[in-house]
Amino acid sequence: MENEDKNITLKVEGLKKYFPVRRGFFQRIGGWIKAVDGVDFEIEQGKTLGLVGESGCGKSTIARTILKLLEPDHGKIIYQGKDISNLPEKDVKPLRKEMQIIFQDPFGSLNPRMTVGQSIEEGLRTLDISRGDRKERVGELLRMVGISNNNADRYPHEFSGGQRQRIGVARALGVEPSLIICDEPVSALDVSIQAQIINLLKGLQDRLGLSYLFISHDLNVVGYLSDKVAVMYLGHIMEFASAGDLFENPLHPYTLALLSAVPAVEPVGKMEIKPLAGEVPSPQDPPPGCKFQGRCPLVEARCREEEIDFYAANKDHIVRCWKVAGR
Ligand SMILES: Nc1ncnc2c1ncn2[C@@H]1O[C@H](COP(=O)(O)OP(=O)(O)OP(=O)(O)O)[C@@H](O)[C@H]1O
Ligand SMILES: [Mg+2]
Repeated sequence: MENEDKNITLKVEGLKKYFPVRRGFFQRIGGWIKAVDGVDFEIEQGKTLGLVGESGCGKSTIARTILKLLEPDHGKIIYQGKDISNLPEKDVKPLRKEMQIIFQDPFGSLNPRMTVGQSIEEGLRTLDISRGDRKERVGELLRMVGISNNNADRYPHEFSGGQRQRIGVARALGVEPSLIICDEPVSALDVSIQAQIINLLKGLQDRLGLSYLFISHDLNVVGYLSDKVAVMYLGHIMEFASAGDLFENPLHPYTLALLSAVPAVEPVGKMEIKPLAGEVPSPQDPPPGCKFQGRCPLVEARCREEEIDFYAANKDHIVRCWKVAGR
């Protein structure tokens, strides 16, 4: 057992989530939206897995399935060694304290009519602690995210976007989770503020041993915080590697295209690839073969016909591409 010495917080195996195609709310018109189509990964305790890909590739669906807000159609979700894929509702509740989510828009998790102190305190109600202790804990949580305790009586609209995201982090930390899913947590913020929030998350991880699933469409942002990175396209992971390896030796044409949109990264190796044009195709009934075939500058006949499994470029670097596998 190669994983015996590693402490794995979360393991996802063969995860699939398909949504039926509907017209309006009720009428099913046949076909499936293959939002997540067979995804595997694991996150070690205290580490960050970055999940990157364009809009609609299935990132949030993975997050919602892990958090038990959606039922998986296939596959397993194993949290700290326990299979939670098909837990009854009563066992899901305690799990909600262990896993928290931070969204792009912290307004979503903060009630506009409550002071931020009240919002954070509300999150603590599930814990068995007295009102006085809760108040003290709110102050402590605000300090942890760099917001003065005097601000506990202010309302969410009185804060800047970056401060609101800090408050969202404080609220998530309240229940002492071990896994935090960060779904585009900095995408709505200015670049300078993005760096502050990422540094805050990194500091908290080092201090508290948190595991993160860090979701973003921006490879640059993912690179700062992640130990490993999974690049997703239309419900598939196309490339998986340590963050260092992915930036130094990216292999999949899709990863290269994402990187070419990152200003700080030089064109890589011989395969210079232009940024992607157009939108991601719909994951509704995707064609056979490689999911990236329709936009890939290196596409050949085999890519349109045969689906490819992972090719291992090295022990920790796997990629789904006929061209790379055949090199
Ligand atoms: N409840 C649902 N019913 C039907 N289709 C859905 C549902 N939720 C998501 N989808 C579809 O599944 C696909 C993946 O959506 P998802 O929200 O996971 O993408 P994402 O990678 O998080 O995108 P973004 O970067 O825009 O947040 C999309 O095509 C989306 O329209
Ligand atoms: Mg999303």
